[in-house]
Amino acid sequence: MPNPFPNLADPALLPGVWCLTCGEPEALTPVSLRELPPDRAALAALPPVSLPAALAGAAWERTARGIVVRLAVGDNEEFYGLGLQLKSLAQRGRKKTLRVNSDPVADTGDSHAPVPFLASTAGWALLVDTARYATFHVACIQPATELPGGPGILADTTQALYAGRVGSRRALVIEIPHARGVSVYGFGGPTLRTAVARYNLFSGGGCRPSLKGLGVWYRAYGKATAADIESLVDGIRADHIPCDVLGLEPGWQTAAYPCSFVWSEERFPGHRGFLDRIHGRGLEVNCWEHAFTHPTSPLAPALRPCSGPSAVFGGLVPDLLVPEARRAFAAHHEALVSEGIDGFKLDECDGSDFTAGPWSFPETDTFPSGLDGECMHSLFGITYQRTLDALWRARGRRALHSVRNSHALAAPYPFVLYSDLYDLKDFVRGVAVAGFSGLLWSPEVRDASSTEDLVRRVQAVALSPQALINAWYIAMPPWRQINTARNQAGEVMADSAAATALVRDALRLRLRLLPYLDAAFARYQASGVPPFRALAMDYPADPACRSVDDQWLLGEDLLVAPVLTSQRRRRLVLPPGVWRPLAGGGPVPGGQTLDIDAPLDLLPVYVRDGALLPLAEPVEYVGPETVFRLQVQVHGDGRHGGELVEDDGVSMAGPANRVDLTWDGSAVHLDRSGSFTGRRFELAAWQHHP
Ligand code: GAL
Repeated sequence: MPNPFPNLADPALLPGVWCLTCGEPEALTPVSLRELPPDRAALAALPPVSLPAALAGAAWERTARGIVVRLAVGDNEEFYGLGLQLKSLAQRGRKKTLRVNSDPVADTGDSHAPVPFLASTAGWALLVDTARYATFHVACIQPATELPGGPGILADTTQALYAGRVGSRRALVIEIPHARGVSVYGFGGPTLRTAVARYNLFSGGGCRPSLKGLGVWYRAYGKATAADIESLVDGIRADHIPCDVLGLEPGWQTAAYPCSFVWSEERFPGHRGFLDRIHGRGLEVNCWEHAFTHPTSPLAPALRPCSGPSAVFGGLVPDLLVPEARRAFAAHHEALVSEGIDGFKLDECDGSDFTAGPWSFPETDTFPSGLDGECMHSLFGITYQRTLDALWRARGRRALHSVRNSHALAAPYPFVLYSDLYDLKDFVRGVAVAGFSGLLWSPEVRDASSTEDLVRRVQAVALSPQALINAWYIAMPPWRQINTARNQAGEVMADSAAATALVRDALRLRLRLLPYLDAAFARYQASGVPPFRALAMDYPADPACRSVDDQWLLGEDLLVAPVLTSQRRRRLVLPPGVWRPLAGGGPVPGGQTLDIDAPLDLLPVYVRDGALLPLAEPVEYVGPETVFRLQVQVHGDGRHGGELVEDDGVSMAGPANRVDLTWDGSAVHLDRSGSFTGRRFELAAWQHHP
């Protein structure tokens, strides 16, 4: 029989955050292993709320299978979250088992980054504090006490047959396998957006990437030598394709799969000189790796006693929760960073059960820290992120990195998720989905099936959390040749010049929006509000917005509607209010769904009425002295103003100015307050869009 949580009457743990505990929770959980404190001051600044009714009525029971938690939910509530669910945005009516997996090909809950966090349109959210593969039955169980009667289902398509929704299904049922108890953290709203923000503040606040990290990324061919890469970079600069970060794939090391974590002198002779030359071209360097350690790596002796019992790709699996392992791993990476590496791509920290051969360690392993393989899978990526993020925190410097596995409480870590799966629709959905769970996702670009496919992919990634071209398996940039085999054969495609121009334009928009994007991340850090959000996060009461998984809000004022390949028109859901196309044109009333033209050279973006949108004259990369010349668009009466942050772009806590943009009806004004004495912005012009 279900029991009420014994500590329901306890006061809130933090403003708007409750912790309900039953039985004897496991010792090693996301919250018990957290390393950053909640942002108490920012939580206290949010509106006061009382314990959400769904949580006040929560009940639990212990079964032979583990712990079951039940909550009653409303008929009209929709749910979002559960981490990076690439196959679906709205979770009501679905059963998801949150298992770590790098091949989430069906909508089962398998994910690069599952997070046991769920937020409701009724304005509350919960985090189940477990690293187990918990199952969420999101209002999909039909109680036998509510048999509907009626005519049953007679269908002539399988979709109609199984779409039949009978019964009220008013329960959220969560099963945590193996556990003898669990803590559930509840977050109050009053809105969905505030409940998500509270969770992010509970996690420690949102991450604040470096300004260059928000620029364009290009990952070079995995087998390239230093000389190949230098001529590639010269080509990118000659083509005037913006680029701030150069990614080196496995070939920078003497051995990858497993990793040596040692520079290959064969491919990168005198690697320090190479790093200097790349930095000299205005690029940061991000290096690929995974944690599975080659037996001949200088790290192996220290890691061997603190590793799991199974090998992966023939390498040790370090248990980074063991202090000795973490110290050794961090010290080795510190030496790499001090030589000039600006960030890392943490690959393969997820694992697959379904590829040609399952790889990664099995759930049956027990690690020296006491975690079993199941919990280690959930926490491997976030622990890996923390180990390397600490190197930048110690320097007081911001950065941005890539990672392929994450979990709960990830918001403060500047890591963006990516995947080998390459479906554009799923990749676009990922941007909208990830923001509900404290995650960032990049719909990265590799090769393409047509020039149009390439351009649509680049347009989408350009206004996503990380503008990433991942050319790890093609030697020339994809705008020279989209086809992998021909690219490797050095054959330039006939329409390369046209493709280059379209790609350049799409990426320039990223750079034009860089100051605006940076300000959105500053807000993420301070207030927990994600910079990239599904429409449902801001408009949960609007039925049309609830299911939109192919558009997202960027900051407070922009709505991005990427176009999929072969579309020349697309359906657009405009939320309530008034919007104007960024590309120009009069006001369009919101609260409607319309079909718009989407010519190949256009990424549809809409601006909120009343915004002052600062667009920078495009630079090709950000340097220490870069001053953005701002062209400010005034939309309507400009009543919302605009806000930017002016600082050196890398320091975590250095001097900064708040820059307010205002419109007095005839001119834009830019007002600074703060202690940063340098200049990042200069007001160049403004245009009024009445
Ligand atoms: C994959 C990763 C790719 C690329 C490749 C290199 O696991 O997803 O982006 O880095 O490894 O071997």
